[in-house]
Amino acid sequence: AEQNRELKERLLQLKKERNAIILAHYYQRDEIQEVADFRGDSFLLAQKAAETDADVIVFCGVHFMGESAKILAPNKIVLVPDERAGCPMADMVNPIGLREMKAKHPNAKVVTYINSSADVKAETDICCTSANAVKVVNSVDADEIIWCPDKNLGHYVQQQTNKKMIIWEGYCNTHDMLTVKDVVEMRAKYPNAEFVVHPECRPEVVAMADFVGSTTGILKYCRESKHKEFIVGTEDGTGYQLRVDSPDKTFHFASKFLVCPNMKVNNLKKVVRALETMQPQIHVPKDVADKARLSLERMLLVK
Ligand code: 13P
Ligand code: SF4
Repeated sequence: AEQNRELKERLLQLKKERNAIILAHYYQRDEIQEVADFRGDSFLLAQKAAETDADVIVFCGVHFMGESAKILAPNKIVLVPDERAGCPMADMVNPIGLREMKAKHPNAKVVTYINSSADVKAETDICCTSANAVKVVNSVDADEIIWCPDKNLGHYVQQQTNKKMIIWEGYCNTHDMLTVKDVVEMRAKYPNAEFVVHPECRPEVVAMADFVGSTTGILKYCRESKHKEFIVGTEDGTGYQLRVDSPDKTFHFASKFLVCPNMKVNNLKKVVRALETMQPQIHVPKDVADKARLSLERMLLVK
């Protein structure tokens, strides 16, 4: 606790010296969420990165999030606490594979989940997050959509749009771990709880939910619901904001495996060290960034 207090003081000082802001995804460790200027889901954090007038953005999340921030704010320095924090789902698609898919479906437009590399975004017509996926797909001026990389979210979106979706075979290792059996057992244990779930979970799990939504959607639903108890089907870091919002409610995570190891690679010490050394910084080659930026900016314009 003493060490954490010292780290927090050092961080405040460094933030001022560097004119930096700290953005933290809801899946980060509590000690990082506590010191963040903004906590958010992928969409909100991308918006904040695009809008900020700070000189330095410390992005606490996984690599693709830091990259998206750098693409949207090319003149800022973007630091991440640890470069090795990646997203396995983002690595399930590469530009070569995507180009082959585009060649097979020349009339289709590409909608890519923000959980993807800058190279893949550069091959994309428009990005989306789980918070705006249906709206983005419906906004596209084509009847056929190549959707990548999350098959589970893709399946969920397909149920809510008339467009024909060609769905990539990627998935989130963490959310995909939750099974029907887990949920059945949790429901038996907590019969009064509502089950809320992220659409990165498997379709058969999503089908069991009382509410399906992005991280922000889940937070809002639990905050406003009359229910007092919830079984939560998303990454366990979300518990921090759930408890801040609703200290009188109880949250049971649906499985002990709902932990993203990459999100947990970051810690407070590494955040302080990043601001001290101004490393590691995210760099995106200009030609890639210029193309990828279009796909992100188009997303930010969808109402
Ligand atoms: P959201 O923050 O958009 O809900 O995304 C979930 C996720 O898995 C981020 O890596
Ligand atoms: Fe990637 Fe899943 Fe971790 Fe999000 S929770 S960063 S989608 S592996």
